[in-house]
Amino acid sequence: KPKKAAWRRRRSVVAGAGRGWGSGPGAGAGAARELRHARPQPPPLRAAPPEPLRPRPRPGSAEAAEHRALVLTGHGGYDKVKLQTRRGADPRPGEVSVSVRACGLNFADLMGRQGVYPRLPPLPFCPGMECAGTIRALGEGVRDRQVGDKVMVLALSGLWQEVVNVPVNQTFPMPEGMSFEEAAALLVNYITAYMILFDFGNLRPNQSVLVHMAAGGVGTAAIQLCKTVENVTIFGTASASKHDFLKESGVAHPIDYRTMDYAEEIRKISPKGVDIVLDPLGGSDTAKAFNLLKPMGKVINYGVANLITGQKKSLMAMAKTWWNQFSITALQLINQNKAVCGYNLGYLDEEVELLGGVVAELVNLYTQGKIKPKVDSVWPFDQVADAMRQMQEKKNVGKVILVPEAPKEESKKAEN
Ligand SMILES: NC(=O)c1ccc[n+]([C@@H]2O[C@H](COP(=O)([O-])OP(=O)(O)OC[C@H]3O[C@@H](n4cnc5c(N)ncnc54)[C@H](OP(=O)(O)O)[C@@H]3O)[C@@H](O)[C@H]2O)c1
Repeated sequence: KPKKAAWRRRRSVVAGAGRGWGSGPGAGAGAARELRHARPQPPPLRAAPPEPLRPRPRPGSAEAAEHRALVLTGHGGYDKVKLQTRRGADPRPGEVSVSVRACGLNFADLMGRQGVYPRLPPLPFCPGMECAGTIRALGEGVRDRQVGDKVMVLALSGLWQEVVNVPVNQTFPMPEGMSFEEAAALLVNYITAYMILFDFGNLRPNQSVLVHMAAGGVGTAAIQLCKTVENVTIFGTASASKHDFLKESGVAHPIDYRTMDYAEEIRKISPKGVDIVLDPLGGSDTAKAFNLLKPMGKVINYGVANLITGQKKSLMAMAKTWWNQFSITALQLINQNKAVCGYNLGYLDEEVELLGGVVAELVNLYTQGKIKPKVDSVWPFDQVADAMRQMQEKKNVGKVILVPEAPKEESKKAEN
């Protein structure tokens, strides 16, 4: 049976009208049909409500239960994230209350801790853009979820807690067979990788892609998604110790960017360059990406990892990244036959239908066994500093996960 290209399959899913993301009972596999009957467009994605601002609950009521939450208490090093106790509250109308089983750590959380990430609440606040868990209570008016449903949750912040109350449209039913750790690794990385590769990149069979930070969260997602399209050649940059993993994952040309010039290495293998560069680095790497493109090529800039050089904000790195920022005029682009795109999931919070369609397609791909989040390691809340260190010291292969309680296994390395 001929292999169907993901970009073709996707068009048929996206063709369904009137989707609201996460709003239908089956915002998972085969959800497109059900989502067509979704309610009027739900309100945009927002941070989980900051619990301390709620009115004090009635003494003795169910609301008074306490739970633990990670709180960013100041900008700086790992010690700025502290485990604190918070008083819970019942979900408000349109919300569900979720018992959190696993949370995703994102590069943006390292940036947020240093105070260089936009759109976060004022300090102190609870970080966390994604989690997975079980619905424990329904707010008034919620009809398309039930207590006990397993869900993935997306928000701008606020999800690193044992219990979160979130608008129902920020929850997505977990597909059958998915672990909580996998579910906490799916939304941010795979939505991002999917949209930059397929919506902006328009990846097609026989093309070539350069994936930076290839062994990280978005990187591993991007590689798996590239593999859903026929005969795509993947170049991937990562630290040398991760190259065996990259080769096993389907990267034809792993490159150690720490010891060699990746652009030169790519030119040796492919003198004309590549069709798509996924650029999470920014600064001078965006210009390098642009220069590496073949005619009709696209660079998608979706991060500024070059800003992060240590535990605390580096003014030197900020100045260098800003100074080296790539810029080009529309007129110059005409004669280059290339495209420059910018992507930030954190600014798509009002695009509920768009994101819902992407999640539905990702769940389809998971159910078909075509994608599977790669979990690097799992850390209890009280070891959040070690979890952040794992990512910041470039040790992770796949996603770093936080869980409220210590996992039973002595080793934190996940089986998958
Ligand atoms: N725009 C969006 O909506 C969006 C959404 C999600 C993520 N992103 C971006 O995508 C990138 C990847 O995010 P992620 O959460 O999946 O993280 P990640 O790739 O797991 O990040 C950690 C890995 O990145 C590599 N790395 C490269 N430069 C680094 C630096 N300066 N400091 C620390 N590690 C560095 C390291 O591996 P090697 O040294 O082996 O490469 C490290 O193990 C980030 O730039 C992030 O901001 C953007």
